[in-house]
Amino acid sequence: MALPKINPTETKAYQALQNHFEEVKNQTIASLFEKDSMRFQKYSIETEDFLFDFSKNRMDDKCFSLLMQLAKECNVEEAISAMFSGKTINETENRAVLHTALRNKSNQAIYVDDEDLMPNINNVLQKMKVFSESVLNEEWKGFSGKAITDIVNIGIGGSDLGPMMVCEALQSYKTRLNVHFVSNVDATHIVETLRNLNPETTLFIVASKTFTTQETMTNANTARNWLLESSRDESSIAKHFVALSTNEKSVLEFGIDEENRFEFWDWVGGRYSLWSAIGLSICLAIGYERFDELLLGAYTIDTHFQQKPLHENIPVIMALVGIWYNNFHGAESVAILPYEQYLHRFSAFLQQADMESNGKYIDRNGNEITYQTGPIIWGEPGTNGQHAFYQLIHQGTKLIPCDFMSGVQSHNNVSDHHEKLLSNFFAQTEALAFGKNKENVVLELESMGKTAEEIEKLAPHKVFKGNIPSNSILYKSLTPKVLGELIALYEHKIFVQGIIWNVFSFDQWGVELGKQLASVILPELTSEKNSTTHDNSTNGLINYYKKYKN
Ligand code: F6P
Repeated sequence: MALPKINPTETKAYQALQNHFEEVKNQTIASLFEKDSMRFQKYSIETEDFLFDFSKNRMDDKCFSLLMQLAKECNVEEAISAMFSGKTINETENRAVLHTALRNKSNQAIYVDDEDLMPNINNVLQKMKVFSESVLNEEWKGFSGKAITDIVNIGIGGSDLGPMMVCEALQSYKTRLNVHFVSNVDATHIVETLRNLNPETTLFIVASKTFTTQETMTNANTARNWLLESSRDESSIAKHFVALSTNEKSVLEFGIDEENRFEFWDWVGGRYSLWSAIGLSICLAIGYERFDELLLGAYTIDTHFQQKPLHENIPVIMALVGIWYNNFHGAESVAILPYEQYLHRFSAFLQQADMESNGKYIDRNGNEITYQTGPIIWGEPGTNGQHAFYQLIHQGTKLIPCDFMSGVQSHNNVSDHHEKLLSNFFAQTEALAFGKNKENVVLELESMGKTAEEIEKLAPHKVFKGNIPSNSILYKSLTPKVLGELIALYEHKIFVQGIIWNVFSFDQWGVELGKQLASVILPELTSEKNSTTHDNSTNGLINYYKKYKN
């Protein structure tokens, strides 16, 4: 089955939502709570590991049911089965989309072109287990016979952001290995990473689905030279380099043995690949068993996503609530605000997952889209963000729906840090939703002994209009399983939004043009002649560089 190709704005539900928006656009979150003392109970869902509270949204019962109707009319349920069963839903690249098969703990067969994928998936997982254990228990030695102490993952985009975010998030499960990530083609990244490392005890993971990405191949060659300068022996490469790639031929050409290649497949999208061999750095950072728990977490959400009816389905609800703000309220961005320092790279990871997936203006029929698609994703951990950009969320002129998340338990119980952290989380969701009206501001200023004149001048600046929506995810503790659940929730949210917006979420043609033009410009940077073939500005930049480069 191909995906449905429905223009969402032509559905009955969309039109009804537009009418409904006109009726309720001045309705406040505060008034919704006043009307319904059980709103939290109605609009929150508890699972084994977390609570999802979506009650602090500008959404009444009618809006919720129209959003569900929109998902139905856009055939979201059919699309979910098409993805899980391996249909070629990535039509522009002619591929299935099966990151869910990589964490298929049921081990039930999944077929692509009449071949069951599970035996190959299980073989690679087994190979990752054996390899990571051999490095961890010091059986795997470097060229001089010493055990490995440092791992450097060289990759970019999905071959970096996912595993790097997970390794940061699960630092409290850290093994004896130090895992580093190099992504940028800026030499500073690799130079500064290698500065204090010893080639005898460093293992490089070259992570690239295509094994052609300029940044990764440049960094991998620099790493190889760095190793060879010290080992002076080509055979040392086999002991210090492994590859994670679908491209067998280029891996061999680089000089990495087939035995040291961890395979994955074209039906794994780059930004959905941390569950595949791309997760090898995670296995080394936290041990294979913990990696397996991460897969289990994702599988738990996969099952929920496939089985729950739309109105109880958390990724579906997250997607629809997002659509309500994006397409009806005109919100342009979503802030991701983890009150969990370990998740400090979570919004960077979601930027690629979401914006590379749904940042599209052509629909699945090939037509230009006339409604809004993917939002801008951004954010920083709380409480740091509070002292930086929350001013604009509270009192700016833009509507920014927020996702808050934190653990009931902390991995680091030191005095009252955690209570302070959580009190800020809860307070921010409260302040955003309910604000502070002029009356209360005046009372407060009076109690501070301000004069009437001072109050008149100051009061407007101290009013919080509130009515700023947020979702909250409060998990019991940031374990590998919970992290797997969190990531899968967002992956499926993105999927549902892409289905409704009628875009192909699993291609990324928008990243190609810049790469193409860079390959034209690269030789010009070393040529003697001034550049004249570009536009006036680009020529100017290139020629300024050439004038002063030496
Ligand atoms: O920037 C585009 C992109 O193709 C991403 O989708 C991908 O995650 C990244 O480059 C890295 O690609 P590769 O794993 O093939 O090196």
